[in-house]
Amino acid sequence: GAVPTRVGNEARAAVEEFFPPSHGLAVFYSTGMEAVEFALRVARQVTGKKGVVGFNGCMHGKSMATARLGWPNALATLPDFHSLPYLPERSEGEILESVRSTLATESIAAVFLEPLLGSRGGYIPSRPFAEQVSSLCAERGSLLIVDEIFTGFFRTGSPFLHRELGLTPDIVLIGKAMGNGFPVSGVVVDRRHPIAGSMLPGSTFAGNPLAASAVLATLREMRAHDMPAKVHRIEEVILAGLNGLTELGVALRGKGALWILELPTSMRVRDVMAHILQHGVIMSPTANYIRLLPSATITIEHLTDACRIIREACRAQRDTGR
Ligand SMILES: Cc1ncc(COP(=O)(O)O)c(C=O)c1O
Repeated sequence: GAVPTRVGNEARAAVEEFFPPSHGLAVFYSTGMEAVEFALRVARQVTGKKGVVGFNGCMHGKSMATARLGWPNALATLPDFHSLPYLPERSEGEILESVRSTLATESIAAVFLEPLLGSRGGYIPSRPFAEQVSSLCAERGSLLIVDEIFTGFFRTGSPFLHRELGLTPDIVLIGKAMGNGFPVSGVVVDRRHPIAGSMLPGSTFAGNPLAASAVLATLREMRAHDMPAKVHRIEEVILAGLNGLTELGVALRGKGALWILELPTSMRVRDVMAHILQHGVIMSPTANYIRLLPSATITIEHLTDACRIIREACRAQRDTGR
């Protein structure tokens, strides 16, 4: 991973085109979790502080540390990790209060935020909330780290959701869509925070030529299409096709091409998933949520049909559950 390659440099430049000149790609990795771990090291080194704040329900990975940030990880009690209650259990006002008091009383290196709860209920915080978290970080000398591994590169319509929330994070974590299925992630850092060897950047497969080629090809392809328009059309079809599910007690939350169905307790996720899969639609379950993540290349006919199958699966479950 340490040897520079031409394709690696081109992939780096292609990523950086998506960011203002103030921010640069510090390093590629293979998985999201590695990117988050690196961000933890950068934050501690840059600020000289140890504490980190995450929000319950935000997914940042499954290593001991990343899972401790926002996920139930009974196996790790790490010192200096503060996992704060979040949406929908608390109001934005209450969450801000807990951020304010944690930053005031603890020595916090960074606050981690997933801008859309992609592995939980699909909640997106309001812009004023996000801006206040950012201001609190700036006041207290803590870094703001936004995890766009799931939401980045047009998944929700715009290149990055944090911009719609009015944020200029110190670190943006990227991954998933930029490899179009190939495992690759990256860490984009404000250039005011130089990367030092003591932050342990890189790993065996970080930025390998195959991963770099996947990034380069994917980002070039994205540039060749009107991605916001494509994703907007996907959103319209999903809303038209699935909004009616609220009548069955199914909540629909999300944005662009990232949607989460929250099923009522009377419906079993496993059975709904089995029905949907049997009819040829692949979705992704987590807890009592089902995620619909169409690719940008999906045809409107396929998507409309998928929505019909999802509606039928939920109706069938409602009827057997009666
Ligand atoms: C927002 C977010 N961050 C980080 C991760 C962790 O990525 P990985 O599973 O590649 O380690 C995920 C995985 O789903 C994610 O959705």
